[in-house]
Amino acid sequence: MQSSEVKNRQHAKQATTIVKRGKQMSERVVLAYSGGLDTTVAVRWLKQTQDLDVVALLIDVGQGGDTEVLCKRAVESGALDAQVVDARKEFANEYVTRALHANALYQDRYPLVSALSRPLICRHLADAAHHYGARYVAHGCTGKGNDQVRFEVSLAALSPDLEVLAPCRGWGMTRDQAVGYGLQHNLPIPVGPAAPYSIDENLWGRAIECGVLEDPFVEPPDDVWERTAPASKPPAGPTYLQIEFRHGLPVALDGVPMEFVELVGKVDKLAGSYGFGRIDMIEDRVVGIKSREVYEAPAALTLIAAHAELEHLTLDRAVLRTKRGLERTYANLAYEGLWFSPLREALDAFIRTTATHVNGVVRMKLDSGNVRVVGRSSPASLYETALATYDRGDAFDHKAAEGFVKLWGLPLKTWARTRRADAGSPPGAGSWEGITGWEEPDKE
Ligand code: ARG
Repeated sequence: MQSSEVKNRQHAKQATTIVKRGKQMSERVVLAYSGGLDTTVAVRWLKQTQDLDVVALLIDVGQGGDTEVLCKRAVESGALDAQVVDARKEFANEYVTRALHANALYQDRYPLVSALSRPLICRHLADAAHHYGARYVAHGCTGKGNDQVRFEVSLAALSPDLEVLAPCRGWGMTRDQAVGYGLQHNLPIPVGPAAPYSIDENLWGRAIECGVLEDPFVEPPDDVWERTAPASKPPAGPTYLQIEFRHGLPVALDGVPMEFVELVGKVDKLAGSYGFGRIDMIEDRVVGIKSREVYEAPAALTLIAAHAELEHLTLDRAVLRTKRGLERTYANLAYEGLWFSPLREALDAFIRTTATHVNGVVRMKLDSGNVRVVGRSSPASLYETALATYDRGDAFDHKAAEGFVKLWGLPLKTWARTRRADAGSPPGAGSWEGITGWEEPDKE
């Protein structure tokens, strides 16, 4: 017997019981299954050490791969049942569209690729638990990431009576030990050298972590990129793309109407082929860690840029300013696992109202490594040439400006005058010193 086998047997014997309450025979757990090493090992581990019948649920959010084949792995690993749920449309329509409406970018950069899919997965876990009469649900997250927070908080909000198990957080196996456990139990796990990165992917983008990326000073090697071409090898030459929006959502490309999922896929391919959509950032995780994260999100970044631009054209100034502030709050709450919250519902209501007149077309120019807005037009445009022009046809009331500027500056003028007169209170450190026109009050 190999030593890893011995270790694994010992591990199985010593494995902590994570099912807390006394349970009857063959109780069930619905496991969020990805088909990867951890969740495949978890199928057997939950049965062997916790005596639970496992129902594996694989949620398709557009991550690619043969979901049916992956799902079979769960059955071969001892699952009582395994199901694929095609949630691509639901993910697009209920989660991605909301994030786009909100221009949601965590820390102004990350379009919440993984964060958006977790609440959807939880909704399906809760439904399946109900369907299978399971008191437990399980996820394959470790203790260091954001996803455990998103799973457990979302499930608590959706179905407070369910007990959530986190086998991979509690079993204390290293990757090698998990592989050893899999081999020992003849599980259909991927063997060979460990994948160099940890990857999570869906319609809205691709997240890449671990390996050499853990050194924040090291440039991401070429092999991390899949959806974006190297900027040095762009297609033929610059090109243009017209994105049409209706109520703040894209509905057509270059005049061709398209469903949201298809449109996102097309934009992703095109913008990605120009090498656009790479993100390399230091990110603040909910659990207090700063981590180095790399993403590819060509469609998300293109569509958010276009949508935000159209808002600049069509939203009233005060609404726009308020919305931009709330967008940060929105991104934070999605990132922090608070999707199923009254705050998100309230923000969605505000955002939905603002989207009413966000109609029109945005013209994007795609060039080597770059996609940017070069034109915008809307039937609801608040841009009035007669007001904006410096040429003939100017309808702006220049005379009115004079009085306006006087009154706009009045509070500051009053303040400055009063302050100068009040010689007893010199400016505090770093205030007006060095600014032209300020004089130190005379000291007597
Ligand atoms: N840091 C991102 C988030 O918390 C992405 C995590 C994705 N996971 C992965 N295995 N790459 O949302």
